[in-house]
Amino acid sequence: KQPLVIAPSILSADFARLGEDTRGALEAGADWVHFDVMDNHYVPNLTIGPLVCQALRDFGITAPIDVHLMIEPVDRIIPDFAEAGASVISIHPESTRHLDRSLSLIRECGCKAGIVLNPATPLDVLDWVSDKIDLVLLMSVNPGFGGQKFIPSALTKLKQARRIIDDSELEIRLEIDGGVKPDNAADIIAAGADTLVAGSAIFGSNDYAGVIRALRGH
Ligand code: DX5
Ligand code: ZN
Repeated sequence: KQPLVIAPSILSADFARLGEDTRGALEAGADWVHFDVMDNHYVPNLTIGPLVCQALRDFGITAPIDVHLMIEPVDRIIPDFAEAGASVISIHPESTRHLDRSLSLIRECGCKAGIVLNPATPLDVLDWVSDKIDLVLLMSVNPGFGGQKFIPSALTKLKQARRIIDDSELEIRLEIDGGVKPDNAADIIAAGADTLVAGSAIFGSNDYAGVIRALRGH
């Protein structure tokens, strides 16, 4: 298992002062920036694109930017995000007709590739892509909105995904996204997650450092 990464979801940040708020979370001890991209088509909400990713880089954000694409189709926008400074790009299998091709494209563009599984999407899809991914992101809410409640069955799924990753002996991170709070983080980490996304828990608080420490468990 790799060292724990905390990735604040800027979906819950103050968009009127996104640079400062993102920097604030990183200075408070966060490791990555989780960047949620929604298109009002694959998910019923609309957010931000490559321009905003580039703006964060131009503002001086140097931490890894973990781009979570909830858009369909997805291929056309992958090179744009790579050029705008994305570090990891994760895609939902339901959002592309040719998953293997889309994952290859992400690496060809120089980024790490991730696959995102919705709460009801089985883990089987990992069987034939494990050599093409650097990260598995399990959704513990239905994608589209911040501030939803953690779906408990995600813990069982985390344990199964942990076993699959360990058996593969590949270096693949296991990330969880949705409803992660200080009070469930210990169970989530025990179930095998090594990368925690947290939006409302961090940005909804006035003590980012305190929440990030609590998520780490100390
Ligand atoms: C939901 C997004 C999440 C969301 C998490 O579609 O993928 O990243 O921002 O927000 P919280 O932590 O508030 O559940
Ligand atoms: Zn996300």
